[in-house]
Amino acid sequence: MKLIIDTAARTLTTADGASERTQPLYSKEAWEAISLQWVRVGWSLGAYYNFSWFGRPILQLPEDLVRLQEVVYSLQPDVIVETGVYRGGSMMFHASLCQALGKGRVIGIDQRIPPADREAIERHPWLHASRSSKAIPSPPKSWIEWRRSSGRARPCW
Ligand SMILES: C[S@@+](CC[C@H](N)C(=O)[O-])C[C@H]1O[C@@H](n2cnc3c(N)ncnc32)[C@H](O)[C@@H]1O
Repeated sequence: MKLIIDTAARTLTTADGASERTQPLYSKEAWEAISLQWVRVGWSLGAYYNFSWFGRPILQLPEDLVRLQEVVYSLQPDVIVETGVYRGGSMMFHASLCQALGKGRVIGIDQRIPPADREAIERHPWLHASRSSKAIPSPPKSWIEWRRSSGRARPCW
């Protein structure tokens, strides 16, 4: 498929085999077609490796973080369970939303967190404050038992 952006004519032409369609560049349809390619190119380049949240690397695209914030704000959850902590940025992200909302806690689970990252996560003032105010408690006992029996994941908080 070809996408031809003509900024002078303000059109987007989508050519797919024999079919061709031209639509206004500044339209919802054009925005969606261009956005889809933007996301695909960004993911294939690993663009999500370029961001951090409160000092921790976060493997997310900024647009997704805004959407996640909208979900958390609208649901106002008591608990957010994050499967896949990696270097801690997204856990920090969710913890900061809980802090701002004044409610909620985050339980992060990962099978492997590099020791230096784990140390940095545990030292981080946001999480330290959350932990001391019991906003981020230890994982439920049943989870630890599940982990032991399945051997698949390691609760880290
Ligand atoms: C893409 S990274 C997470 C990125 C993080 N959420 C962020 O936004 O910065 C995926 C993580 O999932 C973890 N993971 C993958 N499979 C898992 C499993 N079965 N149990 C626990 N953790 C798992 C990996 O160890 C890795 O750290």
